[in-house]
Amino acid sequence: MAEPFRILVADDEPAQLELIGGFLKKQGFEAFLAENGQNALRQFREVPFDLVLTDQRMPDMSGLDLLKAVRAIHPEVAVIVITAYGTIETAVSAIKAGAKDYLTKPLNLDELLYRIEQVRERLRLLSENRDLREALQRQHRIEGIIGESGRMLEVFSMVRRAAPSEATVLIRGESGTGKELIAKAIHYASPRASGLLIRVNCAALPDTLLESELFGHEKGAFTGALTKRKGRFELADGGSIFLDEIGDLPLSLQAKLLRVLQEREFERVGSSLPIRVNVRILAATHRDLEGLLSAGQFREDLYYRLNVVTILLPPLRERRQDLPLLMDHFLKLFAEKNRKTIRGFSHEAREALLRYDYPGNVRELENIIERAAVLTRDEVIGQADLPLSIHEPEEEKSEGTTLPAATEGIERRMIREALARSGGVQTRAAELLGISERALRYKLKKYGLTGEDAAS
Ligand SMILES: Nc1ncnc2c1ncn2[C@@H]1O[C@H](COP(=O)(O)OP(=O)(O)OP(=O)(O)O)[C@@H](O)[C@H]1O
Ligand SMILES: [Mg+2]
Repeated sequence: MAEPFRILVADDEPAQLELIGGFLKKQGFEAFLAENGQNALRQFREVPFDLVLTDQRMPDMSGLDLLKAVRAIHPEVAVIVITAYGTIETAVSAIKAGAKDYLTKPLNLDELLYRIEQVRERLRLLSENRDLREALQRQHRIEGIIGESGRMLEVFSMVRRAAPSEATVLIRGESGTGKELIAKAIHYASPRASGLLIRVNCAALPDTLLESELFGHEKGAFTGALTKRKGRFELADGGSIFLDEIGDLPLSLQAKLLRVLQEREFERVGSSLPIRVNVRILAATHRDLEGLLSAGQFREDLYYRLNVVTILLPPLRERRQDLPLLMDHFLKLFAEKNRKTIRGFSHEAREALLRYDYPGNVRELENIIERAAVLTRDEVIGQADLPLSIHEPEEEKSEGTTLPAATEGIERRMIREALARSGGVQTRAAELLGISERALRYKLKKYGLTGEDAAS
């Protein structure tokens, strides 16, 4: 056997424990024995196990409770529960709680071996998968940028091809998709890496200030220009300039930027002396440039000048495949930052995170996990550590973005909960909600709910 496969066996019946233990050892497994749940849990905390095999009925702790306890410590561990013949409900709850499998008594050792091999095969595939994934990542990898979806591998390939050139790169994508990260990656993978990368947020300043920010000014060029000042383009000489939120650049400055793009030349505000710079231009926007074009808010000639190489960053919801990697990446990052040991996510928390739509993209995911890492008191991130918005059922998620729509959604949910708690008794539900029964009836009608519509 290549690697030792470590199994923890918990059973309160000494004969059964001996039988299983002896059998497993004969098969070449490392078997550890525990005569009750507490003892099993103690051993589990000390030694890493691949599999826990537990009897359901033990005096101090049920197999189901042991299952939950070990999964709270190590969410990925495989558990097989052994139930007495005929207690199918327990078996079903065990599977629901995350058991890999269940076996019934009297135990058939061949069957046991078969099930263990299945678990082992699955673990082997998982680790093989992880190795492949890591190899793939190493091959395509760009420092600090996580992604393994086809869409992101395409982005990485574009970055790698665009970086060595002098071409202007336009990076597009919704807010929080990683545009700035990509701009940095391009600069640091380019021959200009030893030069500066200067960022300008084109949306942050009013026209006149932005002009002087970009191109600099002479002393006395405008009120407040007390001294001569170099602009960002001059500072970036020999390096790259990152024009962020380029879609928000005022029309008056678009003409001036066009000239820089065409001739690499500009004048400081208040001067007529042309200045030449050697700057690579990277730009980004989350705006619909084509829409701005047809609305006359963005110059067509500038658009074509910028649009030499375009990198489109897909929204996170269109590359859900990247979610597990990103979740683990941020968890590790923020666990370290907060000096906490956090082993992973609970089953429910993971499901909720994988299901959510992330309108704020990677930045939203990052914030959610940072918050959870700060809040959690456990070694596992649970559902309670996640913001409410992410574990709302589908129906409420489509509440919409307007205030009336959101308010309606909340009302509807609270009414359903109150009805559930009052067992459908409207007088009581109205009391719980702090409204009159008449008002409740009105709302029930408005939302098409009936007394039976309790929250599920
Ligand atoms: N693929 C990724 N891997 C790791 N971290 C990422 C990835 N994409 C984005 N991030 C992180 O998400 C956050 C937002 O990224 P960034 O600021 O680059 O987005 P943006 O597209 O510029 O957003 P905005 O349009 O709002 O300015 C950053 O903290 C960044 O490090
Ligand atoms: Mg940005």
